Amino acid sequence: MTRSIPKRFLAGLGVLLGLALPQTDRARAETTQPLPHQHWDFEGPFGQYNQKSLQRGFLIYDHICSNCHGLSNLTYNDLLDIGLNSQDIAALAHSKMLAGPPDTTGQPTQRPALPDDHFRAPFPSDAIAAAMMGGVAPPDQSRMVAIHSNGPDWLYAVLTGYKIPSPPGAPVVPGKFYNTAVNGHLIGMPPPLMDGMIQYPDGTPSTLAQQARDITEFLAWASDPHRNARTRIGLWCMLYLAFMLVLAMAWKHRIWKKPDKPGNAETEQ
Ligand code: HEC
Repeated sequence: MTRSIPKRFLAGLGVLLGLALPQTDRARAETTQPLPHQHWDFEGPFGQYNQKSLQRGFLIYDHICSNCHGLSNLTYNDLLDIGLNSQDIAALAHSKMLAGPPDTTGQPTQRPALPDDHFRAPFPSDAIAAAMMGGVAPPDQSRMVAIHSNGPDWLYAVLTGYKIPSPPGAPVVPGKFYNTAVNGHLIGMPPPLMDGMIQYPDGTPSTLAQQARDITEFLAWASDPHRNARTRIGLWCMLYLAFMLVLAMAWKHRIWKKPDKPGNAETEQ
């Protein structure tokens, strides 16, 4: 009994190290190039998403990224949180066709989406997506920013990291594009953004860098939509606790105040 415990402990440690080593290797490979840090409205303990940037980011997603990437965790109604109104959301959903129930002869049908439907996936399956995209399926973007370390900086770096034509001496692989931010510097995604490729209704200049910032803010929100509420609640909790601290200090002061009445046992000592 007593000898089996260290053995078990060592076995457990072995498993832990086995799991831990590839992790650290991966982390090291990911961080070989330090990512330039960008300033984000939503970072820090009191950070909040910028609604205007979220709306511009959604425009980029809807017009560009959604042709290849799904965003399956969102429903059209979730866009109420970034300031879209219910009529616009209903019209937007109505313009997207989803698979409907088979008709009476068993033929597949299509129906317009409803506000409660999840965002339409661009491909019927990952296998079809991979076949159409030169072997690699574009990953779903629901958790894209959350699962990468420094997710927002990483996404911004990928979107702004294309070099076309590729620098002299760089490997040229058909169907792959040179990008300074990805491992091996080759990615199967054609550069999705370009200066002026979309008109912003709020008049913001539509540079590639601005588009990259807005889509990053939007996808950061999609990965963590409750962040604004969380930081707001956190702030109120801190204010409440600070208020209680002041009360507690005043109370303590009152209880332990030096008695000024002569005749008290403690003052006579
Ligand atoms: C024409 C189709 C297409 C469009 C449009 C597109 N992508 Fe991609 N994307 C891909 C493919 C294919 C991959 C997989 C490439 C690979 O792994 O080499 C990919 C991969 C990515 C990756 C890397 C994922 C990872 O984990 O390495 C990011 C980030 C990304 N896309 C973001 C975007 C954003 C943001 C947009 C919209 C601005 C967008 N993509 C538009 C096809 C597309």
